[in-house]
Amino acid sequence: MALFNSLSTRTFSQSARMSAAIQNVTVIGSGLMGAGIAQVAAQTGHKVTMVDIDDAAVEKAQKRIGDSIQRIAKKKFGGESAEANKFISDAIGRLTISTDAVSSVGSADLVVEAIVENLDVKKKLFTQLDQAAPSHTIFASNTSSLSIAKIADATNRKDRFGGLHFFNPVPVMKLLEVVRIPETSQETYEAMCGWGKAMGKVTVACKDTPGFIVNRLLVPYMYEAVRILERGDASVRDIDTSMKLGAGYPMGPFELMDYVGLDTGKFIVDGWHKEYPDMPLFEPSPLIEKLVQEGKLGVKTGEGFYKYNKK
Ligand code: 3HC
Repeated sequence: MALFNSLSTRTFSQSARMSAAIQNVTVIGSGLMGAGIAQVAAQTGHKVTMVDIDDAAVEKAQKRIGDSIQRIAKKKFGGESAEANKFISDAIGRLTISTDAVSSVGSADLVVEAIVENLDVKKKLFTQLDQAAPSHTIFASNTSSLSIAKIADATNRKDRFGGLHFFNPVPVMKLLEVVRIPETSQETYEAMCGWGKAMGKVTVACKDTPGFIVNRLLVPYMYEAVRILERGDASVRDIDTSMKLGAGYPMGPFELMDYVGLDTGKFIVDGWHKEYPDMPLFEPSPLIEKLVQEGKLGVKTGEGFYKYNKK
């Protein structure tokens, strides 16, 4: 089934919208997180524009969304049916793609940024968007470890700025961390929480602190697992089995690191280590350094701690 209009058509239907406050959403970045956020927003009745730098990137995201939305429809409607097909075509119909970030925010109620984890690149983007977006538009970053306040510094709308941190895979994981900086207005905070609920997520509030809630716990946990391995105390498989069967986690720490990407974990820890050099939990791992250098980043490269069939 051809799920998407061609890149040149770029149309979307005037479908019903669910969130009264936030109806038009622009998602900048179409990687794993950006595509997932755009997909769920479209599935839940929002008009969405998904932006990336070139057609190849958005085409890859369209394929990922197409596959994922079929799985969601199958789960929701129990297989191929007229209802399932309508759900898919309605959602896809609400999704427009673009390679021009500045022109894509003209009617946005909310902009969610999910681009590369580089503070300067994010600030440059938000400075441009700040001039192009209507005054009511809320800006949010899906950063997993950078300071929301430092990103917001690039704009003149700190009262309409916050963090919206989703989890991979976005269509499945129910949590949304809503992050406020001191300047975030109550109205903005409530609008972000309301949108999260309209997206079918459970929202939790967190201050602008490194890793927010989940990554602050999860990343040191994963690195502690690597340190057990580095000391030779237990094997990858046995550590994973232990955490799945002994602690009820859906994936072991090594499976999870491969799933998230070793480069992502390394980026987060490097940033924290630089800022808090005396924190033992934020110590980089020689084994992860080596694997990343070898290009063994996990599922996406076909090898990390485990080997995978390359997709
Ligand atoms: N899109 C749509 N549906 C998906 C999907 C996707 N991308 N991935 C999985 N699913 C669905 C499957 O279709 C399946 O549906 P079913 O129940 O109807 O059969 C269901 O989810 C379970 O999937 P699988 O049977 O393939 O495999 P699992 O049972 O192992 O579940 C998992 C996969 C949901 C990923 C589960 O292993 C899990 O919860 N793992 C932990 C993930 C996690 O911790 N994520 C957070 C990472 S940290 C993060 O994202 C923060 C960032 O800042 C780094």
